[in-house]
Amino acid sequence: MKILAIESSCDDLSFCIYEDKKVLSLVSASQTEVHSPFGGVVPELASREHLNSIVPTLKNALEQAKIKLSDLDAIAATYAPGLIGSILVGLSFAKALSYALKKPFIGIHHIEAHLLSPLLEGEMDFPCLGLVLSGGHTHLYKISSIGNYELLGKTVDDAIGEAFDKVGKILGLPYPGGPEIDRLSTQGNPKRFQFTFPIVKSNPLYVSYSGLKTAAASLWESLQKTDVERADLAASFQEMAIRIIERMIERAQHKTGLSRLLVSGGVACNNRLRQGLKRQSDAQGFQILLPSPRYCTDNAAMIALVADFYLRKGIVSPLDLDAYDSQPLGVFPSNRISPTS
Ligand code: KG4
Ligand code: ZN
Repeated sequence: MKILAIESSCDDLSFCIYEDKKVLSLVSASQTEVHSPFGGVVPELASREHLNSIVPTLKNALEQAKIKLSDLDAIAATYAPGLIGSILVGLSFAKALSYALKKPFIGIHHIEAHLLSPLLEGEMDFPCLGLVLSGGHTHLYKISSIGNYELLGKTVDDAIGEAFDKVGKILGLPYPGGPEIDRLSTQGNPKRFQFTFPIVKSNPLYVSYSGLKTAAASLWESLQKTDVERADLAASFQEMAIRIIERMIERAQHKTGLSRLLVSGGVACNNRLRQGLKRQSDAQGFQILLPSPRYCTDNAAMIALVADFYLRKGIVSPLDLDAYDSQPLGVFPSNRISPTS
């Protein structure tokens, strides 16, 4: 079954052609240069850019996979959560293609796709833990099986990626700040500045990033703002941001007894996180699966992976499926119609 998957929930437009657990092509149109002068994603510009690049990106993906539109067996697209205008561009395009080609359509939840994205390159037994670390999410789930998720923990304020991006902006780094802080931290001393460990009393698996972000901002104001200070602050902030995640994982293991973990989302590219997880897995016998960086950030291959799973079971979505800017990841998404219903 050849699936065309579209991911357009934020500022990246990505097309993937996927067959039998293989990525035949993955083509993304990045908008970093468009949003960079504004220090963050401008929603109106993001959806307009998607409109401009959607047809050329599709052509590119078909060419690289060496197939024609008529060879496709199904069309998938992100339907939630994200920037509503951006989602609508990809979702409407996918539904129109499905209607014109008379091929099934399925809408995929962006967070479900991140959560399962490590399975693009490896295998994991269920139940396991799943951690999504992105610009909008810092969410920890228990995954009992594909489609069956229980939210165990999350941030009570900023997402980890959002905190990286905001601190990057404060330090005068280009957007997005996450990869810049990662790079700059290699030149800095992570022990130079000490931050207080944030405690969320209501739930030991809940975390908080807004206090750390504010503390980093006020510290920066009090400094001379030299290059050495910038690198030391980046490294110290990153150290605490990742230690918060490491502690969340330890506590989740303790609570659930599960030592298998999938980690995904843009922040899963972070080198300090990847090294720390390796240490944690070696020392505590954790089985941890992370995608390669190209599958950590937003991409259509993860949409195709989840679509493939549901389509094989004969599950599709109706063509009147709406786009949602926010929608919690459910136990079984109501947007899908199984063959028996
Ligand atoms: O998953 P993603 O591509 O988009 C969302 O769904 O949000 O994640 C984007 C986030 C941004 O906040 C970006 O700064 C962060 O991932 N990010 C990183 C790194 N690479 C991307 N954060 C820390 N270190 C990195 N190497
Ligand atoms: Zn994402």
